[in-house]
Amino acid sequence: MKLPDLTGRRALVTGATNGIGLEAAVELARAGAEVTALGRDAARTEAAVATIAERAGRPVASALCDFSSQADIRRFAAEFRERHDRLHILVNNAGGVFNERTLTVDGLEATFAVNHLGYFLLTQLLLDRIVAAAPARIVVVASTGHYRGTMDFDDLGFEKGYTIMRAYQRSKLGNVLYTRALARRLAGTGVTVNALHPGGVATNIWTGAPGWAAPILALAKWFMLTPAQGAERILQLAASPQVEGLTGLYFSDLRAIAPSALALDDALGERLWTESERLVGLAP
Ligand SMILES: NC(=O)c1ccc[n+]([C@@H]2O[C@H](COP(=O)([O-])OP(=O)(O)OC[C@H]3O[C@@H](n4cnc5c(N)ncnc54)[C@H](OP(=O)(O)O)[C@@H]3O)[C@@H](O)[C@H]2O)c1
Repeated sequence: MKLPDLTGRRALVTGATNGIGLEAAVELARAGAEVTALGRDAARTEAAVATIAERAGRPVASALCDFSSQADIRRFAAEFRERHDRLHILVNNAGGVFNERTLTVDGLEATFAVNHLGYFLLTQLLLDRIVAAAPARIVVVASTGHYRGTMDFDDLGFEKGYTIMRAYQRSKLGNVLYTRALARRLAGTGVTVNALHPGGVATNIWTGAPGWAAPILALAKWFMLTPAQGAERILQLAASPQVEGLTGLYFSDLRAIAPSALALDDALGERLWTESERLVGLAP
């Protein structure tokens, strides 16, 4: 995808050590953006940032943040805020799946904590820097999985019965609900926020899946998009003039389409917002 000149624009890409996040970071840097590539593991992040910088032909900054720890998200956000007054492009992309029900250091179900609350907390902590950079864009990497997602506030963490897919689908429904609720709050600020499904992409995302699924996933990879193709979906929302001014939408295959009925339920989105604020300790 041909991007406009992004010289002078700052971009933060989460989950930039692999897959579509890494590819998006390369293209944003290549277009001239000041990219910070975020990873959770020092060695993997160092290796990824060297690859990104080499392929983009320019230096790229990196930082560490583990989205399974709210303290770590707060530490990273504070450090980023200290260094930068403005953030023009935020790509919320880091995510994963957990074969068995796993609790984070904060005592929360890990899929929901990393994939939804991680996006929520980081974005909220950086929001004034993003508004200060307007026109600015927030990109939320969701999934087609959100169509099957449910939101049960009495059992958000699946204490009453966990499956890897239901947890993933709930976290991705959270992404789309958050996108729409945030867009409502950002109206008139010059900041847009949109969610996307990147396609079925051959990445590491399913390494947390059960062992029996490995041969099926290995076969499926032959029919999947490449990470570069998946990243195009991010780049469109992050920088393309085609979508300028559009906000609160869900994109698949480079087109805005209707998300699930639950994702369109504004009351549900507001309830999730309140719950998310409470769970990350940002309640007003
Ligand atoms: N691939 C698909 O078919 C597909 C379809 C729909 C949606 N998506 C979404 O696309 C996004 C990117 O996934 P991908 O397919 O590119 O998978 P990937 O290759 O596994 O990349 C995931 C990235 O997220 C990082 N990450 C995972 N858990 C983290 C944590 N606790 N803290 C910080 N970073 C963490 C990973 O870091 P490490 O390198 O350290 O593991 C990696 O950089 C995800 O949100 C996923 O849900 C993917």
